[in-house]
Amino acid sequence: MLSKKIEDALNNQVKVEAESSQIYLAMACWAEVKGLEGVADFMYAQSDEEREHMLKLVKFINERGGHAQISALKAPGVTFNSFQEMFQLLHDHEVFVSGSINDLVHITLEEKDYATHNFLQWYVAEQIEEEAMAKTILDKINLIGDDKGGLYLFDRDIQQITTRASASASVAPAKD
Ligand code: FEO
Repeated sequence: MLSKKIEDALNNQVKVEAESSQIYLAMACWAEVKGLEGVADFMYAQSDEEREHMLKLVKFINERGGHAQISALKAPGVTFNSFQEMFQLLHDHEVFVSGSINDLVHITLEEKDYATHNFLQWYVAEQIEEEAMAKTILDKINLIGDDKGGLYLFDRDIQQITTRASASASVAPAKD
């Protein structure tokens, strides 16, 4: 059974993950209209992943006697000055999400809720991966800058990251 404090904190994270999904969906749309298909596919996949992160929390809350709250979301930015700026925002957002997960883990320790603490370890591990990937991509795009040829190659490169990520997701054991 979840305490009210843990339930509220988990519901806050539901909102964070839902907003992340919207942020990346908006980035996917912008990349698509700008003609970078690889970047768009990558962002669509990121958006789907965030929805999965949200759903995993929703199910956990409901299964543990709480009630997952589906709330209004903050509208994401829909245009960007450059792809560099967009990937900087993605990176910064992932750092923010990691902080939010850390705060949540801290509350579970304060409340001595070891079941929720254990459940959240999946998110801790996931954030390490997401931050590392965002940093790798950001470093690449910072090297390229505004070079059109570089962006074209980057768009093809990132397509491979998306394909590899979805291939490993489809062979990985079902997430609990
Ligand atoms: Fe669900 Fe990218 O954090």
